Amino acid sequence: MSETIRTQVGIIGAGPAGLLLSHLLDRAGISSVVIDKRSREEIEKTIRAGILEQGTVDVLVNTGVSDRVLRDGHKHDGIELRFQGEGHRIDFPGLVGRSVYLYPQHEVLIDLIASRLDAGADIRFGVSNADLHGQLSDSPSISFTDSEGRDFLLECDFIGGTDGSQGIAKWSIPETERRDFFRPYPFAWFGILCEAPPSADELIYSAGDRGFALISQRSDTVQRMYFQVPNETSTEDWSDEQIWEELQSRVAGTELKQGPIFQKDVLQFRSYVCETMQYGRMFLAGDAAHTVPPTGAKGMNLAVADVLVLADAMAAYYDNGSTEKLDNYAPTALKRIWRGQQFSYWMTSMLHATPDEHPFDQQRRYGELEMVTSSEAGRTYLAEAYTGWPFDVSYN
Ligand code: DHB
Repeated sequence: MSETIRTQVGIIGAGPAGLLLSHLLDRAGISSVVIDKRSREEIEKTIRAGILEQGTVDVLVNTGVSDRVLRDGHKHDGIELRFQGEGHRIDFPGLVGRSVYLYPQHEVLIDLIASRLDAGADIRFGVSNADLHGQLSDSPSISFTDSEGRDFLLECDFIGGTDGSQGIAKWSIPETERRDFFRPYPFAWFGILCEAPPSADELIYSAGDRGFALISQRSDTVQRMYFQVPNETSTEDWSDEQIWEELQSRVAGTELKQGPIFQKDVLQFRSYVCETMQYGRMFLAGDAAHTVPPTGAKGMNLAVADVLVLADAMAAYYDNGSTEKLDNYAPTALKRIWRGQQFSYWMTSMLHATPDEHPFDQQRRYGELEMVTSSEAGRTYLAEAYTGWPFDVSYN
């Protein structure tokens, strides 16, 4: 026997998309229940990218999730693109009047979970056997087993499919109703976290003959760095000494401050979009609907933009009974998503060598980097995308 619970929006996935959706709905007086197969600890500890667009920061602060990002995050007014041994700064405020914040995604999740629980939200961590039902009916539902082994049926008006790239939501859309756009890449990133002071004040994206490297930061004492490796690389393939040697060789001219490496991971690259993002009364948002390669750190920012549009559409439905905005959700969100896809693909292909790269293409990439960094139009194009385009809806 399963126990029945009832809410207005059943949300599968307590990542940035699901939790922010629940938060924004609550502000509009709409109830939700969020489930996730992971534990709270696992969600709060998973290391992801670190850059928030100005607009993402504004949403977190202005809707009352938390203003910790303003205190513990770091505002970055630019990045450096480095190639052929020379650095070129892209000055964000000077070009587009906006900045970005370095504030890791797991910190955003810590803030979102705390804020949701403070508000009395119903979040079930550690669930299993989740399944979605009746998406094409007026009364969809989610069945699941909670962390104590009890079975539940969550009845709702809508399902928020925010269970990430490995989730079940998008696969519940029949193949005949769905188009998958998928692109793999022939390289990956080797990422490290180390205990050391920052080696640079801003992020360095460096394209060199030995491949790409990214020097990022986390805090005054912890740093995040990545370097391009072949797809099949495992974290055991590189000793700490080799890692430092490789990273240093890829950012010649900047002396890397070394320290103990306490985490290593290999990030695979893929571009993916699921069209459509609506199946009856189920709506996909965030990584459940699309993934980008990490170059440019658009992933979570795109999730936030999706959810703003979706929460606004759901609020309109409960306000006046109209499904017009809900029907427009996917086409509206997809415009920004494809921009984000283009930007992430462009940054990735401009900065990385493919394993069998033709010498012509290598020189052509340097030509492109030279063109982008030497012209104000080129720098502005990059800065506009990196700091984030205006949102499609207003919020309060
Ligand atoms: C980070 C990751 C990115 O993919 C990026 O473009 C910038 C920063 C990071 O983890 O710090």
